[in-house]
Formats: sequence, structure tokens, C-alpha cells
Amino acid sequence: MTTAEAATAPVPIQSTYQTHVADYWNAEENPVNLELGKLDDLYHHHYGVGAVDLSVLDEPDPVRRRERITAELHRLEHGQAELLAAHLGPLSPEDRVFDAGCGRGGGSVVAHLRYGCHSDGVTISAKQAEFANAQARKRGIADRVRYHHRNMLDTGLRSGAYAASWNNESSMYVELDLLFAEHARLLRRGGRYVVVTGCYNDTYGRASREVSLINAHYICDIHPRSAYFRALARHRLVPVHVEDLTEATMPYWELRRQADHLVTGIEDTFLTAYRNGSFQYLLIAADRV
Ligand SMILES: C[S@@+](CC[C@H](N)C(=O)[O-])C[C@H]1O[C@@H](n2cnc3c(N)ncnc32)[C@H](O)[C@@H]1O
Repeated sequence: MTTAEAATAPVPIQSTYQTHVADYWNAEENPVNLELGKLDDLYHHHYGVGAVDLSVLDEPDPVRRRERITAELHRLEHGQAELLAAHLGPLSPEDRVFDAGCGRGGGSVVAHLRYGCHSDGVTISAKQAEFANAQARKRGIADRVRYHHRNMLDTGLRSGAYAASWNNESSMYVELDLLFAEHARLLRRGGRYVVVTGCYNDTYGRASREVSLINAHYICDIHPRSAYFRALARHRLVPVHVEDLTEATMPYWELRRQADHLVTGIEDTFLTAYRNGSFQYLLIAADRV
């Protein structure tokens, strides 16, 4: 199947749950996603990592304070996207990558700007795919970076055509066996898979109250840490690097909870979950063997 054919494949039948997820993302217009993206047209729908410049909170002018907090949160979320992209390489401009659950498209643009590669992003939200394609046209990269309204478990994209693929905070919406089977099908041998995700910590026990609240807030189903490694192993994906980003993401949440113009109400739940040890923010890079 050529890319052109793949671009016209029909959206596979969706489960009721997947329709709810699509409805959520079709309607989603949170300032924490849109206001940050507007700064440089890199729209990320994930959290941030790294040290915070706390001086933004001391800014006396209220308008300028908001602007500085927004820019700081965007810097941190962009840092997370760069960290993920750094684990995809090395890649050449001839290579093709797959962005599973691509949101409004920022991650694919980051990968393209870093490596010059082609990217296919897939989202279950028609609105997001439309938005991301408009952004790619605006940037003049629509011939290399494409977004598709598809189910990432059943993409219709070409087998073995991808040098790298990833899920950035989108794996908690699906069954891992189905997801990793699709990545293993799409990746060429020796290709790289990267996931950044929140997961519940098996050593704490079952999912905590906070993890359940996060699930209800986003209509997702956070997996335990162990589930990732079991499912990767079942699908020819062998971990080469594992990084616990829990400490690195907490400053982002500390700042976000104080950003009155951007909060969504879930901030304290994330911080409590990280602090009581029931929840972790993880990066796993794996090779397709
Ligand atoms: C939290 S957002 C992350 C977006 C993007 N990866 C980013 O980092 O900006 C979750 C994304 O997963 C997508 N998603 C959830 N279930 C999906 C499915 N079965 N197939 C394709 N996309 C899906 C949603 O449409 C949304 O774009």
C-alpha cells in the first residue's frame, strides 16, 4: 500500500469507549493546550520536565506574570518533546516516523525539525488531525508531515516502513498488546519505539485513589508499570533505556497549579499521586528486534 492509498483508508470501526475518547478530544479547548501552543505554533498536549524558573511567579505586573508563566510551562513541555525525540534517533531525512495518538501535532513537528524525517501522526480525533494538517501547511512541511484521523491500533499504514515510532501520553487510552502489535508491525527491524507515560507503581499496590481520579478526569485507563514491560516483550520490543521522570516533572506541576489562568483542576491530584509514590512518569525506549 502506498502512502497515498493509506491517506484515504476509512477510519476503522470504533468501540463506544473510543468514541467517547474521540468526543473528548474533538471538544477539548483547554487554555493549557491552546495558549501554550500559540506561542510558537508547537501544540503539545503533554506535561513538562525540567527545572522551573520560579522568578516568573514574582513578576509584579499581572498581565506580564501570566505571559511569563505561560511561556515557562511551554518551555517545560517543549523540553519533554525534545527529550522524547532525542531517543528516536539517529534518523535521516529519508526516514519515516509514526506518532501514535498525535494530538494537535507538536511531536511530529519536533521530530521533523530535528531529523528532517517524514512523519505520519494518527489521532482518533478528526478535529485534531484537521488542525495539525493546517499547521503543517502553514509551516510549509505538509509534504513531509501528515496527520491522519485513524485508530492507532489499526492504522492501515505500511508494514515495516517506519524507522521510529512513539506514544507521548497516549498509551493509557488503549490495550497495550494491541498497541505494541501495531508498532511492531510498522517498525522495521532495528527500529526504535519510545513511550512517555504516567503509570501506576506496582510496588505501591493497586491503582491509588489519585490514579482513579486521573482516569476519570481524562477518560483513560492508566496501566501499571509492569504491564509495559510484559507487553513490550510479547511484541519484539526490547527496552534499551528506561528513565523515571517523576522527579523531573514535579516542578512543572508545582508551577501549573499556581497558574490561575491555565489550571484544569487536576493539578493537586497529580502532585499527591507522585508524592505518595502511587504514580510514576516514565520514558521507555525499546528496539524492535
Ligand atoms: C494526551 S493527548 C497526547 C497528544 C500528543 N501525543 C502530544 O503529546 O501532544 C492523547 C491523544 O491520544 C489520542 N488517542 C487516544 N486513543 C486513540 C486511538 N485509539 N487512536 C488514535 N489516537 C488516540 C487522542 O486523540 C489524543 O490525541
